[in-house]
Amino acid sequence: MSTDGTLVVHAVGLTKVFKDFWLRNRVVAVDRLDFEIHQHEVFGLLGPNGSGKTTTIKMMLGLLYPTRGRISVLGKAPTEVAIKSRIGYLPEESYLYRFLDARETLDYYGRLFQIPRPDRRRRVEQLLEMVGLTREARRRVGEYSKGMARRIGLAQALINDPDLLILDEPTTGLDPIGTREIKDLILFLNREKRKTILLCSHLLADVEDVCQRVTILYGGRKQAVGSIHELLSQENQTQITTERLSADAIERVRRIIEEEDGKSLLSITTPTTRLEAFFLKTVRAAQVAQTKTSGATSGGRIAGFLGGTEKAEGEAVVSSLIAAASKSAPGQETPTGEPPSQAPSSDVIDQLVSATRARPPEAAQEETETPPVTQPDRTVIDDLLKRADRPRE
Ligand SMILES: Nc1ncnc2c1ncn2[C@@H]1O[C@H](COP(=O)(O)OP(=O)(O)O)[C@@H](O)[C@H]1O
Ligand SMILES: [Mg+2]
Repeated sequence: MSTDGTLVVHAVGLTKVFKDFWLRNRVVAVDRLDFEIHQHEVFGLLGPNGSGKTTTIKMMLGLLYPTRGRISVLGKAPTEVAIKSRIGYLPEESYLYRFLDARETLDYYGRLFQIPRPDRRRRVEQLLEMVGLTREARRRVGEYSKGMARRIGLAQALINDPDLLILDEPTTGLDPIGTREIKDLILFLNREKRKTILLCSHLLADVEDVCQRVTILYGGRKQAVGSIHELLSQENQTQITTERLSADAIERVRRIIEEEDGKSLLSITTPTTRLEAFFLKTVRAAQVAQTKTSGATSGGRIAGFLGGTEKAEGEAVVSSLIAAASKSAPGQETPTGEPPSQAPSSDVIDQLVSATRARPPEAAQEETETPPVTQPDRTVIDDLLKRADRPRE
């Protein structure tokens, strides 16, 4: 969904080695990483804890210097002051001034960007409403829960109406409803306000639901890159979705499939989380190939000022936009990229037959490969989830 191919971020051979007190190489946090983020896309960096996501972001923001390689942001070196006002950043841990309230916090960041007072006031109120904190705006942020801190952090990242929004684990500590709200917000900012967004996460569903392209990191290295559709589609299989069939109908379908040379019915299942399976397979392969890793082994109304449109938008309009955005989320496509059919045709069997006949000869070979979803490695999943559950200090 990248529109004009303009690169917002371009990393080539990006490497970061942390040294110890005696300047010995201690940790290779990011290892010869190449990636590109195009204008107006939501790009995902997905990897387990310690895979180098935050280190990559810090190099993108000019907070850390690469040991080797280079990275450009909005066509410039990350250290150039001129680009700072075009970037919004939600850090992994929000660095909030404990004794300021939410309104003062946003006002403070607005002043750092030299936003004139009347604009600043309007933006602060719009953002507080957008992230659902208007009623808590007078409380000191030091008292906020982790979820509330994420919300105020996101509002802070948007105060300067940035072109590039960098979100480091944006949904950590949020409950499922808060998580959905943040994801809808990301989709809205991307689709309606044309923001380019980098989402770093160890949470598979976050990336699958909102990102158009994804890079999987492990041990600081790129393990896979591509659109969600490319990474997850299994070209040598055909999936047909219908309403529940009777045992008799399934048996007739099986016989029709077996009439095709060398074909058999591989599985009858309900849909599963396919990114999860792909991710686990990728990380497991990386674990086998590399002996060590440097880390873990295993609202409300949209702020009107964003995107330069100050006109007030009715909540109904916004809700319908958000609903439309989430309906067409990339993760909800079928393996073929087509929308799932709502009503099966009356002549289902005929369609089944013509679909199998229409396939190219190379697809006709025996397809005995078990779908990768059969045995998910729960230990890795548990490890990934541990951090989300960690209480705030
Ligand atoms: N300032 C630092 N000094 C030494 N090692 C670091 C530092 N920052 C990160 N690391 C190490 O680099 C690796 C990657 O960390 P990080 O980029 O935070 O991973 P992620 O964000 O994917 O969880 C980890 O092993 C981490 O311990
Ligand atoms: Mg991190």
